[in-house]
Amino acid sequence: MHRTSYTHLAAADQALLRAARGAQETAYARYSGFPVGAALLSADGRIFTGCNIENASYGLTICAERVALFTAIATGVRVFAAIAVVAGGADTEPSMPCGACRQVLAEFGPPFRVLLAGPGAAGPVLVTSVAELLPHPFTLDAIE
Ligand code: THU
Repeated sequence: MHRTSYTHLAAADQALLRAARGAQETAYARYSGFPVGAALLSADGRIFTGCNIENASYGLTICAERVALFTAIATGVRVFAAIAVVAGGADTEPSMPCGACRQVLAEFGPPFRVLLAGPGAAGPVLVTSVAELLPHPFTLDAIE
C-alpha cells in the first residue's frame, strides 16, 4: 500500500476517483451520516459506480463497493482493473473497505488495484490492491 495524492495519479486514475466522488453525492446514508462512493473500472475501460444505501432496518444496508460491483456483474462485466472508493467528510483520512466487500471483490479478478480517498482533492490517496487487502479469501476452488 502506498500513499500519494490526486495530482500524482495517472489521468485514468484521476478520472476514476472523480467518478467515485460523484457517486458519493448520491449516497443514501441518513443513519450513519457517512456517505461512500465507489467507481469500478472494468478491464475493457468502462466505469460502474455505486454508493452506500442504508435502511431503517440497519443490517440491510449495502456498501458502495458492492453496489458498484453488482451493477457491473448485472451488466455482464466480470473482469476489473481498479476500484476507487471515496468516503467520509472533507478532512477525513481514506477509509478501508469492510471485510465483506473485500471478500466480494476477491471473487472477481485477476487481483485488481484499489484507490482510497476522502472527498477533498487535496487529501491523501492510498493505493493498494484487492490481493493486499484480503490475502487469503475464502474460495471453493479446493472442491471444484
Ligand atoms: N460502508 C461502505 O459503503 N463501504 C465500506 O467498505 C464500509 C462501510 C458504508 C456502510 C454504511 O452505510 C456506512 O458506510 C457506515 O458504516
